[in-house]
Amino acid sequence: MKNLKLGIFGFGCVGQGLYHVLQQSNSINSEIVKICIKDLNKSRSLDASYFTDNKDELLQNDNIDVIVELIDDAEAAFEIVTTAMNNGKSVVSANKKMIAEHLEELLELQEKNKVSFLYEASCCASIPIIRNLEEYYDNDLLSSLEGIFNGSTNFILSKLLDGVQTYDEVLKEAQDLGFAESDPTLDVEGIDPKYKLCILLFHAFGLVTKPEEVFNYGISKINEFDIDYAKKRGLTIKLISKCRRNSDKIEAYCLPTFIPIGSVLSQTSNEYNAVVLESAFSESQLLYGKGAGDKPTGSAVLSDISALNHNYRYEYKKKSKNQGKFKLCEDFDLRLYVRYDGTSPNFEDFDSIEEKYYSEKGNFLVGCIKLKNLKNSNWLKEASINTIVLN
Ligand code: HSE
Repeated sequence: MKNLKLGIFGFGCVGQGLYHVLQQSNSINSEIVKICIKDLNKSRSLDASYFTDNKDELLQNDNIDVIVELIDDAEAAFEIVTTAMNNGKSVVSANKKMIAEHLEELLELQEKNKVSFLYEASCCASIPIIRNLEEYYDNDLLSSLEGIFNGSTNFILSKLLDGVQTYDEVLKEAQDLGFAESDPTLDVEGIDPKYKLCILLFHAFGLVTKPEEVFNYGISKINEFDIDYAKKRGLTIKLISKCRRNSDKIEAYCLPTFIPIGSVLSQTSNEYNAVVLESAFSESQLLYGKGAGDKPTGSAVLSDISALNHNYRYEYKKKSKNQGKFKLCEDFDLRLYVRYDGTSPNFEDFDSIEEKYYSEKGNFLVGCIKLKNLKNSNWLKEASINTIVLN
């Protein structure tokens, strides 16, 4: 086994988590050479000799084999990762935004430089979903993948549905616990789980998508009326990311969804994530684990470092096998609950409406609408309108 020399970018929540799991793991043969941070004056839990604010001390350092990129800024991360690979270093990253936005360029860089680029921690933190999709699931058999891909929003929804704290209080708690992004809009508007969905779409089906092509809608407009609707019907609310194969078309979205209490996804609470895979012969399978937090995310980074000890690389078999085969499709029906007061949704956008309810507290409809009509609707942007999928 090689003794890998690591250069780490970032020493926030995940960087510190990685440090702790590295300290406690006896089986990984690697050592931290340098850690690059933005602010050298901030007090740190490690000896000052570890730290630098000069990225070249890592990127141009012949004594470093692997760059571990754990910073927040996706564009700066892309520059670091590009330089590292061009300098012949393997890279481990947890940066879902950077990976989802630059997937094709990152694939070319790995190929050109014959290095490994691993990013298990970017999707659902501790859940080993990417390597499982790469190594285990044959795409001919895999028909869908869905689940809870964001720890912060699941934490917020779990507490909100418990009815004890307000939205602002729980969001603050998710931030304090280090689950939320520095810009929590990415979590609560469903953008972060959409990045993860884009990465998983690629490893599940070989389909390269741009994040802006996939529809996302968040949880920030959920109110007591919606929660009351759920409770009266034995439902809970989860932010679900989903992709499903329908012949050569792939349906994909990230939307809040009513889930029957007692089902597997309803029992995934707080910062836990879950991925449900459907395939022809094994049928339904579940992967479950912590989707945010320092050590759970650090453990996935550690697992990638360990894989590098064995020269592991993603083979991207599905990309070559399915070149151009699958197309993203928006022409499918979603059954939705739409709550509104004041402005109404445009009823003509719906293929069918099965229920309309009016009351002093609020109105709602239940109906079927094509994803493309939902995506293009102006009424959905109104602050007084919210929608949740009803399966
Ligand atoms: N903000 C992310 C989440 C962190 O809450 O899931 C892990 O990707």
